[in-house]
Amino acid sequence: NPLTRIPRYASTSGQQTVLVVLYEGSMLILYCLIILKRSSVFSKGGDAGKRNKNILGCVENALGLPKWIKENNLENRLKLVVTSDKQGENSVVEKTLPEASVVISQPFWPCYLDNKRIDKAKNLKLAITAGVGSDHVNLEAACKRGITVAEVSGSNVVSVAEHVVMQMLALVRNFIPAYKQVINGEWDIAQIADKARDLENKHIGTVAAGRIGLRVLQRLKPFNVHLHYYDKFRLDKSIEKDLNVKYHSNVESLVKECDIVTINCPLHPETEHMFNKKMISLMKKGSYLVNTARGKIIDRDALVDAIKSNHLEGYAGDVWYPQPASKDHPWRSMPRHAMTPHYSGTTLDAQARYAAGVKEILENWLNGRPQREEYLIVDKGRVVSNAYTEGDATKGHSGNK
Ligand code: NAI
Repeated sequence: NPLTRIPRYASTSGQQTVLVVLYEGSMLILYCLIILKRSSVFSKGGDAGKRNKNILGCVENALGLPKWIKENNLENRLKLVVTSDKQGENSVVEKTLPEASVVISQPFWPCYLDNKRIDKAKNLKLAITAGVGSDHVNLEAACKRGITVAEVSGSNVVSVAEHVVMQMLALVRNFIPAYKQVINGEWDIAQIADKARDLENKHIGTVAAGRIGLRVLQRLKPFNVHLHYYDKFRLDKSIEKDLNVKYHSNVESLVKECDIVTINCPLHPETEHMFNKKMISLMKKGSYLVNTARGKIIDRDALVDAIKSNHLEGYAGDVWYPQPASKDHPWRSMPRHAMTPHYSGTTLDAQARYAAGVKEILENWLNGRPQREEYLIVDKGRVVSNAYTEGDATKGHSGNK
């Protein structure tokens, strides 16, 4: 078995290339400009990434790695290539992959490491997710090649849970049309009230009650709602009792009972398109769906049909496939949505945590020390996280879209 020849925690020698793929600070400016144009505060748009050193997750600030390398005298051991240029044969990613020992990427601007790219990355030993969610890596191929896949588990789970509750409220209280009225100089209360409801007494269910799903349940409890969850693993009885949450042994049973469903499981072959036409048809008529997990857990067009036919009352979330979403992605223009670009897990607070986690993982790797168990998704040629199954969720993505 070739895997047995892969040294497990040998410390590295020689200079290693670390390819860091992040979003651009200037992408944020573009976004700011569009918003600020209306209020004419144009000059303050500025270059967010350069202005705000706490946006660690963008190219300009590179997770604080350049400073960390300097402070720890690692210049001779690590060569950093930091880029957002990940699309096309001539992209920096494609050109750097053959020499990269480590690829650091993030779900907000994923560097899809599909079969083709893993083949190309002959020296790749470690793929780090700056954040949570490693579906952008073909885990099957990583197992075969003995590539370690690690993420900063827990780093942004509160950030996402808060976003879920925010988007749930935005949908149920009909916030987006109300906000638009204010901007447009209108005042038509009945038009908004027509679809505005309270969360109280609603049945709300989470698909998965891991770190995020559990935090969503905890945050919803004070709203006096009926809580439900489905997961491969059951929560402790004491937690179920404390939250007064009903367990469902399958998704079908959960969606049939809930007015609002939130998806909080990882994307892997078992969950890909879990919400297809059939599953969505089992959801209650007039219910809401919130998905901050991964775009591909939902069948894109089945969702659009369900919203257009009024089977679903509304949809929110911040995850798309592929990312960044194309300008004409149908979720952008479908009715009654409260979507955001993928940012729920990259608040300033979250960035500080995942940047620190990335450094910890790199440091362990350089020194041949074991990684924290909870950070490991693939290790020694197998999937070691029980939240994932061995398989490839990058299929259907050329890596260049
Ligand atoms: P976690 O590993 O703590 O929990 C995942 C849960 O999903 C586990 O309880 C596991 O048993 C369950 N699960 C996995 N496959 C399942 C299946 N087939 N059926 C039922 N349950 C299943 O992960 P965490 O931290 O809660 O994150 C979950 C996902 O949320 C991530 O994998 C990622 O895709 C997404 N995420 C999104 C972020 C964003 O910015 N929008 C940020 C962080 C995570």
